Amino acid sequence: MTTSFGAATTSAALKDAKLQIPNFHGLRPAAASSLTRNALPLPSSTRSLVITRAVSTPVQPETTTVKRSKVEIFKEQSNFIRYPLNEDMLTDAPNIGEAATQLIKFHGSYQQYNREERGSRSYSFMIRTKNPCGKVSNQLYLTMDDLADQFGIGTLRLTTRQTFQLHGVLKKDLKTVMGTIIRNMGSTLGACGDLNRNVLAPAAPLVRKDYLLAQETAENIAALLSPQSGFYYDIWVDGEKILSSEPPEVVQARNDNSHGTNFPDSPEPIYGTQFLPRKFKIAVTVPTDNSVDILTNDIGVVVVTDEAGEPQGYNIYVGGGMGRTHRVETTFPRLAEPLGYVPKEDILYAVKAIVVTQRENGRRDDRRYSRMKYLISSWGIEKFRSVVEQYYGKKFEPFRVLPEWEFKSYLGWHEQGDGKLFYGLHVDNGRIGGKMKKTLREVIEKYNLNVRITPNQNIILTDVRSSWKRPITTTLAQAGLLQPRFVDPLNITAMACPAFPLCPLAITEAERGIPDILKRIRAVFDKVGLRYSESVVVRITGCPNGCARPYMAELGLVGDGPNSYQIWLGGNKKQTSLARSFMDKVKLHDLENVLEPLLYYWKQRRQSKESFGDFTNRMGFDKLKEHVEKWEGPVVAPSRHNLKLFADKETYDAMDELAKLQNKSAHQLAMEIIRNYVASNQNGKGE
Ligand code: HEM
Ligand code: SF4
Repeated sequence: MTTSFGAATTSAALKDAKLQIPNFHGLRPAAASSLTRNALPLPSSTRSLVITRAVSTPVQPETTTVKRSKVEIFKEQSNFIRYPLNEDMLTDAPNIGEAATQLIKFHGSYQQYNREERGSRSYSFMIRTKNPCGKVSNQLYLTMDDLADQFGIGTLRLTTRQTFQLHGVLKKDLKTVMGTIIRNMGSTLGACGDLNRNVLAPAAPLVRKDYLLAQETAENIAALLSPQSGFYYDIWVDGEKILSSEPPEVVQARNDNSHGTNFPDSPEPIYGTQFLPRKFKIAVTVPTDNSVDILTNDIGVVVVTDEAGEPQGYNIYVGGGMGRTHRVETTFPRLAEPLGYVPKEDILYAVKAIVVTQRENGRRDDRRYSRMKYLISSWGIEKFRSVVEQYYGKKFEPFRVLPEWEFKSYLGWHEQGDGKLFYGLHVDNGRIGGKMKKTLREVIEKYNLNVRITPNQNIILTDVRSSWKRPITTTLAQAGLLQPRFVDPLNITAMACPAFPLCPLAITEAERGIPDILKRIRAVFDKVGLRYSESVVVRITGCPNGCARPYMAELGLVGDGPNSYQIWLGGNKKQTSLARSFMDKVKLHDLENVLEPLLYYWKQRRQSKESFGDFTNRMGFDKLKEHVEKWEGPVVAPSRHNLKLFADKETYDAMDELAKLQNKSAHQLAMEIIRNYVASNQNGKGE
């Protein structure tokens, strides 16, 4: 293992979060201190643009001190993310220190401990992979499956950014696990930390020009913004460079410094020593396909085609982001807004210009306000655009008009367009474990399938021959991976973040609590007379950071105390509307008191086919609150169903007794039992 440079004498000084660094001169190195340096003449259409030095972080006079967050100082002292992580990894301690804990995020790992265990902390590491477009080769899937058993907690988690998370890896095993992932053509580099994270794109393996370009663009952007200084390979594979070759256009775009974007002499030409002020998220998609929650990203890129379906260029959105802090009104979730259109060949240059604008101007003093959404909010889109244009060297063209967004889940069987099929499988909360894990592995191994992870924590098996369809469906159904028509529609769109017991920021349960919460919501549906086929998008997180994007849900539950949630309403199925906070501190056991009146009111007052999210927005929160406060229970119509379900009174009484124990009606319980029975028996049949 390579050790990093010994800056040990500085470590005491790092203890002060508000340490003043007198020699900090902004990010731009002297060699590139003027934007006009190396600048090529602009294309004639854009010559009128005046390039000014003011774009860059102003050079501070020698005497001025700049307040920066502690993480900024850790980065600066780290010799490009090495010190003191490399040293800490060599000790026998089960954990790493404060600075290394921040640095290891850039390698795709979080140090965690089980918050429910008493006594001394038992440390472990969560490892997150990077899989642009959610693409996972057969070899990598099998590797991850093995690693989860050998070194993790025996489960694999599919994340909302199309990656894997392995939990519970011990420090002594980290090098083996990381090395194994790298040698099997996987990577975790930059899956966490202050840089570009995994780039999303529609997971569907459709053989269509626009989809293929969206996926290729996602891969190219991921490569463009991948760290270059070698810290990752130094520590995990002793400096061995295991890289797939990069397309020449990516290398060219990265090295281009025509508009003063780069640190020309730095091992990190785009990031420099300080990397970005905060995490950075990018998604690419095609018109109508909002399977990637495009508006929640720092940059959203949309392929634009001509009438013949030939890709011409890209629309670009900027400034989305979910995280916020409870009761700090200056923090907020935000939807991305249109920046402009660029021709096809310019996309990497435009993305780089946006990243550099954030690098130079995003706040580095307080991490709560460091995301690009706050920069755009404070500047306004016009100023932001004009600054980006200086780094891009051109003006953006007007945003192209595109059709409405739709949510696409890609569950079930579909044609790829090349004679093969793909099969989208719903995985509750993306957690693959037990029999499901074993069977999935067997199928993927036996048929040599490649895999895609979706941004909804689901999995797609690709390149399936039609003759394999029936045996695959049957085998997977027996392991609980049901065809979508047998999964409760509430579960299909629901998501929860991991939260307890490992996430250090969790205030309350999310993943472990959601199965029960969904059952209770289904029971409320039954009680107020909503049909089984009806649904709302439910998302739950254990804290306001919003990892499962609850602020885009029709019904978002955001942990705001032990067993207590803030309720958010107003998102929609297309993922184009931001929810708003409806009620604070609703205790878990009181959920029905809020949901029953809301869902009953929706059923009674909705306009034709109006979704729950649209309904709550139309009614307004004051009216909804009044309704919740005055709620005395639904007007119960005498049930016809009971008579049909229970032919004899004895069965009814027995069911009723059992149902009361579960706080349900006899009818609800009977329906639940019948649905489960039908699902477990019918899967795979009729294929
Ligand atoms: C201050 C803000 C945030 C912090 C400190 C934070 C921290 C974390 C931590 C510690 C985990 C690991 C939990 C575990 O696996 O045990 C996690 C998971 C995750 N976070 Fe965040 N997070 C933040 C905001 C966000 C936001 C806004 C998003 C996206 C909308 C996001 C996306 C994810 C994803 C995809 C995972 C993987 C697990 C999953 O699919 O739910 N994070 N985050
Ligand atoms: S939302 Fe909060 S509790 Fe959930 S994973 Fe993210 S940081 Fe942890």
